[in-house]
Amino acid sequence: MQTCYWKLQSNEQDAEVMAQAAKLIQAGEVVAFPTETVYGLGANGLNSEAVTKIFAAKGRPNDNPLILHIADVKDVEPLTTGLNENAKALMEAFWPGPLTLVINKSEIVPDAVSAGLPTVAVRYPANKFAQQLIKACGCPVAAPSANISGRPSPTNAQDVWEDMQGKVAAVLDGGNCGIGLESTVVDTTEPVPVILRPGGITYEMLTEVLGAVEIDPALQGDSSYKPKAPGMKYRHYAPKSAMYLLEGEAAGLLPKMAVNALEEGKRVGVLCSRATAEALGANENVLAKEGEGSENLLVSPWGDSLEELAANLFYLLRDFDRTMPDVILAEGVSESGIGLAVMNRMRKAAGYQIVSLEDGELSVKIGSLPKFMVK
Ligand code: TXA
Ligand code: MG
Repeated sequence: MQTCYWKLQSNEQDAEVMAQAAKLIQAGEVVAFPTETVYGLGANGLNSEAVTKIFAAKGRPNDNPLILHIADVKDVEPLTTGLNENAKALMEAFWPGPLTLVINKSEIVPDAVSAGLPTVAVRYPANKFAQQLIKACGCPVAAPSANISGRPSPTNAQDVWEDMQGKVAAVLDGGNCGIGLESTVVDTTEPVPVILRPGGITYEMLTEVLGAVEIDPALQGDSSYKPKAPGMKYRHYAPKSAMYLLEGEAAGLLPKMAVNALEEGKRVGVLCSRATAEALGANENVLAKEGEGSENLLVSPWGDSLEELAANLFYLLRDFDRTMPDVILAEGVSESGIGLAVMNRMRKAAGYQIVSLEDGELSVKIGSLPKFMVK
């Protein structure tokens, strides 16, 4: 399939592009589009056959339900048998925005969207291009993240192109996504709403509106719990290289571990704050003097704030698939605010190879500690 690439310009030309994209979606085709979280792969959410094409393009297991995207609060009504007070309060507080609500579904939602569940996930994105497209389509737009299943979600149109060229009808390029992590998913059908996937609308923001909110225990990586969002059970966001996440005090050992791994002859990728990158710069000079060279050290600083980390994380993870280090060392961060979502994605990206330091003792949650960490 020939895939069209359309750049959005934020001027009158956009209306023409949106009309063409909407025509494709109405005809049952799949179009990738930007949102404030990550890029989505959109199809007519009320057309099972069109929705099936999304699963094919991504290679997504069909037991993993999709989110329906709307562009007007009142468009949620036909999709549900009814909203409770918690759902209404969240819509009021956070829509449009990076919050997806799981609600009881009505008959018009195809099983292909809900994967046979009695509920449906609905989101009203804040991104202007996404809103224009959904409005032009005149139907709810089913859209998962626009990556091949298992890869980090794309946060710019080039990354979408890399995964979806030849597989979908068109890609709309609306620039970089501001938030960079997928929306928060909240199940509002429980008496106390449950966060199924952390995201840009944080735990703190949700408790302020709802009082009590639970976090799905499966998010802690405890395999004895089955996640309630089917998508959260899959290995995800994983770069091709082995990745270790250094949490808490272990993060302080990152520069030393990187040097040890370089001395073993490894190509080392490092995902860290600007401050840690500067500390590593010092080590790099020491190594250069010893003739080790620094071309084997691939440092990817994400900036200073948790928001910058969220915005850059998926791009940097995908970038490691281009540079292919032997090992990636990632610096853990605080779980406050959007840090909870960032740590959730980094733990999954690392395949739960989480390294911690307690009472001077290093340990790893899955597998065994590599040699360069213990010496
Ligand atoms: O930010 C986002 O949410 C992006 C953009 C494109 O809007 N979309 C996105 O979709 O991340 P996707 O398909 O990659 O993730 C949807 C998540 C999955 O973990 C899925 O299992 C869960 O939402 N989900 C969907 N419907 C559900 C339902 N009825 N009950 C529980 N979980 C559901
Ligand atoms: Mg996804």
